[in-house]
Amino acid sequence: MSILTINRLTDSIGAEVVGVDADHLLNDDSLPDQILRALEENGVLVFPKLSLDPETQVAVCQQLGEVDLSTGQEPGIMRVTLDPSKSASALYLRGTFNWHIDGCTLPPGQNPAAATVLTAVALAEHGGQTEFASTYSAYESLIPEKKDRYGKLRVRHTVAATQRLLTPNPTPEQEASWAGGAAQEHPLVWRQRSGRCSLVIGATAERVVGMDRDAGRALLDDLLERSTRPERVYRHEWSVGDMVIWDNRGALHRVQPYEEDSPREMIRTSLLGDEPIK
Ligand SMILES: [Fe+2]
Repeated sequence: MSILTINRLTDSIGAEVVGVDADHLLNDDSLPDQILRALEENGVLVFPKLSLDPETQVAVCQQLGEVDLSTGQEPGIMRVTLDPSKSASALYLRGTFNWHIDGCTLPPGQNPAAATVLTAVALAEHGGQTEFASTYSAYESLIPEKKDRYGKLRVRHTVAATQRLLTPNPTPEQEASWAGGAAQEHPLVWRQRSGRCSLVIGATAERVVGMDRDAGRALLDDLLERSTRPERVYRHEWSVGDMVIWDNRGALHRVQPYEEDSPREMIRTSLLGDEPIK
């Protein structure tokens, strides 16, 4: 049995796990629980230069929970790259330059990922760092009156909202093509089984239901600003082989823009969420 060695990376989010390799992760039965506990406590875990191949990454993730095997050409693996020859969703990935939570526009009955895992295969020459911000910490920082008030609000999330951030002055044709995209309504505050609360905000958050559009927009913008202040953010500077896991239920994430012809490539695996936003 190994005891995980963890070094915190900031005061609010992120920790580095050192001294483990693929063999430990696959064969030491004591590690999965320790990793899940550390993830719950730290929001983001960095495993420097673990260098897992796609198959091993999926096997390691299967020690931690149920892997989403439905995406990508390889079971359990999505290639995150702007190269359309490697990823069918390269266009969509530009949306990840803005703060977001994965899975906010999934149809009812499908929960956002519990956690997402990335391993760096190739890096961008400029940009490409991934940033994480704790929405548990942002929620905790609210005064009780606001916790109460926000606890009653609902937010409409749409793919169109993410597109509008990338193309602020769309043509009517573009608007029309986005209108049929996925949309979902969620409570603003996610009260989780663990007892913790996080904020469900980010690029998909279009408007607050039942509130004047501008006032709702101002509230969402204010909460995003509060959640992503430097003291609530961990920025990961990637090295090839680094593996990073984050708790998708209490962290926003985004990638710093990188060039379209960049070789940057990540392999991504998602752990299925078993907890609806409520
Ligand atoms: Fe994402």
